[in-house]
Amino acid sequence: MKNKTTILLMATLLLLAGCGRKATVREINVVPEPVFMVQKEGGFTLHGSPKLSVVGLGQNSATVKYIMKSLRHGHLHPKLVAASQNSDIQLVLYDTVNPELGDEGYLLEIRNTGITLSANTEQGIFYAYQTLVQMLPNDVTGTAYSAITLPECTILDYPRFAWRGVHLDVSRHFFPVKFIKKYLDVMASYKMNRFHFHLTDDHGWRLPSERYPELNTVGSWRVDRDAQPWGHADTPHDGERASYGGYYTREELQDIIQYAAERGIEVIPEVEMPGHSAALLAAFPQLSCDGHGSQVAIGPCWPSPVICAGNDSSLAVMTNILDEVCDIFPSRYIHIGGDEAFKDAWRQCPKCQQRIRQQHLGGEEQLQSWFIGQIQQHLAGKGKTIIGWDEIMGLKGDSWEPDAAVNDRNPLLGDDAVVMSWRGLKPGMEAARAGRHVIMCPTEYCYLDYYQADKRYQPTAIGGMITLRKAYDFDPAPMGTNLHVEANILGGQCNLWTEYINTPRHAEYMLLPRMLAISESLWSPRDKKDWNRFRRKVEEQKDRLGIKGYNYCEGSFTPQFTARRVEDNTMNIAISTEVPNTYIFYTTDLSTPTRESAIYLGPVNLSRGTHIKILPVYKDIERDSIYEFVIK
Ligand code: ACM
Repeated sequence: MKNKTTILLMATLLLLAGCGRKATVREINVVPEPVFMVQKEGGFTLHGSPKLSVVGLGQNSATVKYIMKSLRHGHLHPKLVAASQNSDIQLVLYDTVNPELGDEGYLLEIRNTGITLSANTEQGIFYAYQTLVQMLPNDVTGTAYSAITLPECTILDYPRFAWRGVHLDVSRHFFPVKFIKKYLDVMASYKMNRFHFHLTDDHGWRLPSERYPELNTVGSWRVDRDAQPWGHADTPHDGERASYGGYYTREELQDIIQYAAERGIEVIPEVEMPGHSAALLAAFPQLSCDGHGSQVAIGPCWPSPVICAGNDSSLAVMTNILDEVCDIFPSRYIHIGGDEAFKDAWRQCPKCQQRIRQQHLGGEEQLQSWFIGQIQQHLAGKGKTIIGWDEIMGLKGDSWEPDAAVNDRNPLLGDDAVVMSWRGLKPGMEAARAGRHVIMCPTEYCYLDYYQADKRYQPTAIGGMITLRKAYDFDPAPMGTNLHVEANILGGQCNLWTEYINTPRHAEYMLLPRMLAISESLWSPRDKKDWNRFRRKVEEQKDRLGIKGYNYCEGSFTPQFTARRVEDNTMNIAISTEVPNTYIFYTTDLSTPTRESAIYLGPVNLSRGTHIKILPVYKDIERDSIYEFVIK
């Protein structure tokens, strides 16, 4: 163990060796918070040309290639050396499995002799490396460093949940492959491992189809109203060309799948059915109950059109489409949607009614269960497991029912179907209690298309409110959950629906930093979560994200007000932000607040009509916005 004088001496030597560049020991600010971490007194200095050796895995393995490329991208010049030689970074794949670490865990050790990343799997080594990257200076990707000093430490880490998902809707708005890769990169940085790719919906079909080219020539395109606000678009005129949209080619999808796999991420495609099918029915009007089909939707599409479940061709087309999907996507799971299927068309449809009679079904709800059951059987034959939104359990899906009173009552659904619980935690808890595997993504915590701060200071969003703090409070299996139930909860995910999000920059803004909160909720043990520490870490992470070119929201600094009447004309005003240690400066004379203005120390009495302007300051950094409101 080194004492302080030695460290000082070492730092001085480093300073000299580093051609005048300053070498400072880094603080450990990793997101998600590791399971176990102990920091020691000394440090290890990584020079500009670190030597890397590998034990138990090939020098040409995907993980080694990724790490070499990433270090080079960080303006370092790594060199692979034989395991017998001294190295600065050693990657060790255990030949005997260490049960504590599981499939994704790792041990990261920094000693004064070097850095060792050990794991049972390449994915574990990949995650050890992600942790190491977060310990490097946050501008390492932008500046050539000749000496980086890391603290001596031991980090033992593994995830709380196996399913750490991030969803992206590419139907409402279409996003280029380059952006999908950037999305996957940021997911991997924070150890998220499932990409739920929402590829079909009312607003555009984004899967390629060789068998059904109409899906792409018709279903992938809509009349362009992107310059108009969602919900206020002009109706298309007769013969107007559908020019907004597109789809991914098979090669592009394969490229995305491989890119994701190199980052430990599985891509799960979603093909929506039987509802949210306007794009499909634009291509195949004959699969709608009335045979008229739909237009690829522009703006809100509610209730959205449903596929005819009485028509044998519907099942034939959907299973053929799924065969093509299985051909492209190697994932064990295929998401088949199942949410918000409106049954009015089925009630009027002779074929659907005939199917209900023929199959002895209890009504339209059971018709949906039967339909999903058929799809499930088909996919099971191809070795795939289905995931569906919680309506697949046979819950009424015609209305939006948060915390619907439910039980697992779809006898037509095979046991291995996985339920994705979005209408609260409750449907998922019921399913888990009944023995099903469950993924939790309740709207209340996980819908990142919701506002993240006072909407007066935010771009238009779909509604709702999930602040960073709220996202941080997400727990797929809250304290008190029965252990048998918890064992069926695979994990959780955040969802990014894109009705109101039409550019990559805006998608990043909605995702970040809230995805970091979800990541810590899914990876870190419950007792390692600490909002104050997380908030501090987020500041450093935002710098990293900014340097890597990501857009993120500063919504946590938006003041929140509460007003209490004291006298007729006087209100007691409390102001806070969700960030601890933020100083609030304010004016009430319409002048722009600065750090010379009054500082808020506790609730103040102000008369109605007062116009208050606020400047939040955190760690000596003025947030870019001034916030204001009038006391009513
Ligand atoms: C959903 O948000 N309709 C799953």
